[in-house]
Amino acid sequence: MSGFFMNTYHRLPVTFVKGEGAWLTDTGGKKYLDFGSGIAVNSLGHGYPPLVKALQEQAAKLIHTCNYYMSDTSLAFAEKLVAACAPVGMKKVFLANSGAEANEGAVKIARKYSLKKYGQGRHQIVTLKGSFHGRTITTLSATGQEKFHKDFGPFTEGFVFIPGGDLGLLDRALDQSQVAGLLIEAIQGESGILPQSAEYITHAAKLCAERDILLMFDEIQCGVGRSGKFLACEHYSVKSDIVTLAKGLAGGVPIGAVLAGEKAADVFENSDHGSTFGGNPLAASGGLVVLDTVNNGAFLAEIVRKGEKIMAAVRGWNHPAVKEVRGLGLMIGVDIEGEAGAMLEKALEAGLLILSAGPNTLRFLPPYTISDGEIEQGIGILRKIICTP
Ligand SMILES: Cc1ncc(COP(=O)(O)O)c(C=O)c1O
Repeated sequence: MSGFFMNTYHRLPVTFVKGEGAWLTDTGGKKYLDFGSGIAVNSLGHGYPPLVKALQEQAAKLIHTCNYYMSDTSLAFAEKLVAACAPVGMKKVFLANSGAEANEGAVKIARKYSLKKYGQGRHQIVTLKGSFHGRTITTLSATGQEKFHKDFGPFTEGFVFIPGGDLGLLDRALDQSQVAGLLIEAIQGESGILPQSAEYITHAAKLCAERDILLMFDEIQCGVGRSGKFLACEHYSVKSDIVTLAKGLAGGVPIGAVLAGEKAADVFENSDHGSTFGGNPLAASGGLVVLDTVNNGAFLAEIVRKGEKIMAAVRGWNHPAVKEVRGLGLMIGVDIEGEAGAMLEKALEAGLLILSAGPNTLRFLPPYTISDGEIEQGIGILRKIICTP
């Protein structure tokens, strides 16, 4: 059967038929504990009853209207999402279907903002080495990793990559006469769960504000509560000009969002941008359940506690095969002695789903609803496969 699909993914040898909470079941009835959430998408786990109910009710009522019209559910969702992102300055939203599409919107807004205010030529977008911003040609152009760039050129012009962490380099790269925006993941996901330092983000925010360069946080993987705050950039107490979200925002239904603050909220004018499915009522109904559940202090505190429990347990093994454990909330990276890819296969065999992020880093992004008992079970499996030669 898999011969019908293009050869884009290195798939593990398993086919799933059902999900419940933190568990997936394969065609043979074997159960797997999910420490990956479909790469940060199934934020509330599988088959979360309020999410299923909302989607079923919405599907029966209204699945789609084109963007000539408004739907009550999409309207309610947009209002709640903007409110959830208001602490970092967000005022308005454009709804899309994926992370790449959200980032495309962000780049367009930054370029138009700059063009209208400063004229032609000030269109560069600075991003960081090791970043991941998507798979479309423009978001690949924004992605600061060579390995994604081979074979697909020519790329969209006007992207500049700098290594993170170097304040002087950042200062020089943010050239006021050429740069429209800085696009940054507060915690880099795909390249190994690497949080930026508070000093770096604070400096970036200060330079962007002084030079009227839009500060854009790609929160597609680290946002929606994953880091223990609704947005990961909230850990740094800075305001943002643009925030992009996707993945876990509707609990598994495709969605993307680009939000903008005071400066950029009204940059898009009529007919500047659009998306057939963007913000459709079905995705919005899932999004409402996620926002109502996750954007809550006690729920976010539990994400932090569960993440610390996992990190403390792995550190506590004190085993030479574990080189480093890092992360925020339920976004955890573990550097190991051997190859991460091989470990994914071993974990699968043992009934645990984990992810990798780079050649030697295991990545854990469990659903927020995972129980303490399930965490202990997963940690037990991990210990066996990592620490047993
Ligand atoms: C930080 C970040 N940005 C953008 C994307 C692209 O999202 P999508 O695959 O939904 O287009 C991803 C996906 O992994 C991501 O982690």
